[in-house]
Amino acid sequence: MESSVEKTYALGFDIYGTLVDPLALVEPLQALVGEQAVQFASLWRTKQLEYSFRRGLMRRYADFDVCTRQALRYTQRALRCELPESDQGRLLEAYLYLPVFPEVVAGLAALKAQGHRLVAFSNGVEASIRALLANVRVLPHLEDVVSVDDLRTFKPDPEVYAYLARRTGRAPAETWLVSSNAWDVIGAKAAGLRAAWVKRQPDAVFDPWDVEPDAVVSHLDELPAWFDRQVK
Ligand code: LAC
Repeated sequence: MESSVEKTYALGFDIYGTLVDPLALVEPLQALVGEQAVQFASLWRTKQLEYSFRRGLMRRYADFDVCTRQALRYTQRALRCELPESDQGRLLEAYLYLPVFPEVVAGLAALKAQGHRLVAFSNGVEASIRALLANVRVLPHLEDVVSVDDLRTFKPDPEVYAYLARRTGRAPAETWLVSSNAWDVIGAKAAGLRAAWVKRQPDAVFDPWDVEPDAVVSHLDELPAWFDRQVK
């Protein structure tokens, strides 16, 4: 699709859950923990996020790789399935190869063709997210990678959204967060950015905080048409 819109923006793409699927570890997990795989993947992700939120609030920063490792340890203890170090290492390695959602590359290409400035924007450590995005061949579609690690705090601290806008060289009101995580969208809106919610699951619930996303799409490749409609 070749199109250009009159108004272009900086678009910051959340990574985990938006560009790649952090729950897709069920397959490698099945071999290790059998029928607990789905529960394991979900608890691991939930704890990883909780640890980042708590570290932000406590001002006891340790980077997202640490949060991910410690959440993995917690999950094993909670589900009573301690894995050997080598298997834990393999799971953490798999985190660098999380599968990209199928429509992502086409969506990014169409948004780029509209003239928007596309960057990744994540809680992840820059080296880790660059490796992940390169492994899944998304990196060439992005102009830059912005990590909260530079500020030693996490989403949804308003500072990190302001930093995204600064890094893209656009005003907050001309900078969008694109995320499947409702709490991330609310964080961006609270900091004066605009935000698109990628509602990947039809039954996903947006937190009832009296804040609405500027756009809601079920897949990334619907976003170019949304921008198109704004100028007609
Ligand atoms: C990220 C996580 C929070 O990529 O989804 O920032």
